[in-house]
Amino acid sequence: MPKPNSHHWADATRAIHSGESKHGIGAPVSTPIVRTSTFTFSSTAEMKRWAEGKSKAYIYTRYGNPTLAVAETRLAELEGGEAAIVTASGMAAISSALLAVLQAGDEMIATRQLYGGSYRLMRDVLPRLGIRVHHVETDLEGVNRLVNSRTRALYVETPTNPTLRVVDLRQAIRLAQRYKLVSLIDNTFASPILQKPLALGFDIALHSATKYLGGHSDLIAGAAVGCRKWIDRIRQMVIYLGGSMDPDAAYLLVRGLKTLELRVCRQCETAMAVARYLARHPKVTRVHYPGLPTHPDHRLARRQMRGFGAMLAFDLRGGLPAARRFCDRVRVFLLAASLGGVESLVVLPIYTSHYRMSRQELAAAGVAPGTVRVSVGLEDPKDLIEDLKQALA
Ligand SMILES: Cc1ncc(COP(=O)(O)O)c(C=O)c1O
Repeated sequence: MPKPNSHHWADATRAIHSGESKHGIGAPVSTPIVRTSTFTFSSTAEMKRWAEGKSKAYIYTRYGNPTLAVAETRLAELEGGEAAIVTASGMAAISSALLAVLQAGDEMIATRQLYGGSYRLMRDVLPRLGIRVHHVETDLEGVNRLVNSRTRALYVETPTNPTLRVVDLRQAIRLAQRYKLVSLIDNTFASPILQKPLALGFDIALHSATKYLGGHSDLIAGAAVGCRKWIDRIRQMVIYLGGSMDPDAAYLLVRGLKTLELRVCRQCETAMAVARYLARHPKVTRVHYPGLPTHPDHRLARRQMRGFGAMLAFDLRGGLPAARRFCDRVRVFLLAASLGGVESLVVLPIYTSHYRMSRQELAAAGVAPGTVRVSVGLEDPKDLIEDLKQALA
């Protein structure tokens, strides 16, 4: 049965149907989990054809698997890319993509405000491989000053973790094109529902699929989406480094994606209500949420995002002790790292995503010791606000 032409579909339809044909007698409506490490050949002639690159057969799940392929097609269509690869974690996607793009002697420029794991990879690992990393603020102004003949890539994350600064996607593309840089974006916080950077000209979109794409806090997964040339190179790196996804995780990802649009839209609405409540609270000194007109990037977010997202952060009068008291008292929100699931979470970035960073690095990333990061889930907004009220009291 041929695959349906899904090019004109909206996101909600793609998230349910892309990458599979479910028409025909006896076709399973839900995606089968092809739980196998290896696949048979019918003859040595077929094996030879595969080895010579003349056939695309599945041979071994680290190289590819039908369940993974469904997730990959679905994500490619949602992000608007030619191809995608799913990986064992967001960090597997990020590290494999960076190593596919960069080699010893190259330099890259990245925003300073990044998920702590990505920052530490750039600080602690890439330099050991001979790759120099420069950081710029989210306004990207430093790029013109830092770029040189060895600069190969521009890497941004927007909105950023945890202070929700927003990078101007069009400006990033202009700079990447002017200096012939490969452009990479960590699109985890927005998800393809809120912004589609590939359509604007980015080369590679990266995800921690652990977050919104999976959506249920029950898997660790990642993805890279882009043109076939880049995804083939990233796949080669994933094959070498071993960060491939397991078929069971691919099933959970495909299942989670079906409700992506519904979840993200509802989570955005609830996050706005939570942000407004916090902004009015006398014990809160600052709320970092791009949906509030007081946020420095509010107008930019309004221009380039379909919604403001469901992540926010806030600072409390009383700093770290007050933030710890708050986090120890929540009853509906859970005190846990990660984000993007149906459960609302609170966390102190200095003890989780931004651990092992110096005082200067934290200040540069805009993280105060008492900054509380909030991932807004799908609970009823009234219950969440009641919980905030009692925990702040
Ligand atoms: C923005 C962002 N990118 C990447 C990652 C890493 O993803 P994973 O934990 O799936 O490896 C995270 C994890 O928190 C993240 O928040």
